[in-house]
Formats: sequence, structure tokens, C-alpha cells
Amino acid sequence: MSNSQVPVITVDGPGGSGKGTITQMLARRLGWHLLDSGALYRLTALAAVRQRVSLDDEAGLVSVATGLDVSFLPSGESEPVRVILEGEDVTTEIRTEQTGENASRVAVMQPVRDALLQRQRDFRKPPGLVADGRDMGTVVFPDAPAKIFLTATAEERARRRYNQLKQAGVDVNINTLLEEIRARDERDMNRAAAPLKPAEDAQVIDSTGLSIEEVLDRCMAAAGQA
Ligand code: DC
Repeated sequence: MSNSQVPVITVDGPGGSGKGTITQMLARRLGWHLLDSGALYRLTALAAVRQRVSLDDEAGLVSVATGLDVSFLPSGESEPVRVILEGEDVTTEIRTEQTGENASRVAVMQPVRDALLQRQRDFRKPPGLVADGRDMGTVVFPDAPAKIFLTATAEERARRRYNQLKQAGVDVNINTLLEEIRARDERDMNRAAAPLKPAEDAQVIDSTGLSIEEVLDRCMAAAGQA
């Protein structure tokens, strides 16, 4: 089977729309590979900070992105995939608000995106791939047979993030989170390079007020896998 014949389900949308959970569940249910493309932008940002490369230094960031030594290790049933950077487990570290903010800054640079493009396409292997990101359906896998754009209101996404952080024992203000989410959306949707938007042939699913199971069922149906 050539790479382009391997089926791909792309799931794009803003942060907090439930993409991470849904794509992990979809991949597990189908027995397919999973690409968390946001993790690659987060890893680039984290590796840059560690190597003292400035987040304004485009050429330096391209070299960090090109040289990333990273592996994704599948884990148990409800556990997230473990992310290993240069032999060190950074699964928790790449999820901080600061790394997310840095990733969003790094992701506006077209040369950085180009440097990560082939690495993302290499995840397309039999029997299939579920790809999570912002530009999976528009740029990375434009020929994907099934494209989903998963969204939710900014208020709902702030509530979900607030509950997640609270459970993890982190004390945050929900209004601050809402402002951060709006600012991140603004940057992701209005950047010149691969802005966040549904592919023309994507099916838009709004997860506001739906349970995870309901969203999963809708995604399976949208991908023709129900
Ligand atoms: O999905 P996430 O929060 O892990 O993504 C982190 C940042 O990376 C986010 O601000 C947008 C950016 N990103 C992107 O530009 N393109 C992708 N395919 C995935 C993420």
C-alpha cells in the first residue's frame, strides 16, 4: 500500500475543543496510528527554550524543529501517549500554559511549519492515521478522505480547562483562562501561515454541551466508521 492510499481522519479545531481526547479514543477504537501535531510545535518551543534559542530567531527555530529527537510511546488504556524528547519524558512539561503560549508563537512562522511538514506526513502508515491539529485537513493531509472540524464556544473551552487544572491541583482564574483562550484563537485564526479554519470539505462538529461519548459517536459517523 503506498502512503497516499492509507486512510486518514483529520481532526482540526481550536484548543480545548476536545480534540486530544477524541482523537486518542478514535485511534484506539480503530486500531490506527495517532499524530498529535500540536505536540510537535510544543516540543519545538520547549527544545528552543532549553537550547537557549530565542523565540524570535526563525533560523534557529527551524534548526531546532529539523533536529528534534522525539518519540511518542503508546501507553495504557486511559493514559496519554508518553512524549520523549532526547530520552527524557516531557509529557507533562509540554502541556504547561507557558509552553502552549510559546508553541503558538513558534507556529506562526512558515519556515518552522515547513520544517515539521514531512515529519507529520511520515505518521501516515497502515492501517490508518488519526491526525489532530489545526491544519491537518487543509495543509498536511489535503487528500484525507475524512475531515472533521471540532469546535466549542470559548466559554465552554475555558470551563473544561479550568476543571482540568483544578483537578490537577492548579489554582487559576477562569476569566484569565477565557482571555488567554480568546487571544490564542485570535492568533491561530488570523496568522498568515496555515490559519485555523475548516477545510472546505470538512464536517463541522460543535461539542458544546455534548458528552465525550456523544462527540465520539458523531465523529465516527462523520468519518464513515459508525
Ligand atoms: O493543540 P495544541 O494546543 O497542542 O497546539 C499548540 C500550538 O501549536 C497552538 O497554539 C497552535 C499550534 N499548532 C499549529 O499551528 N498547527 C498544528 N497542526 C497544531 C498546533
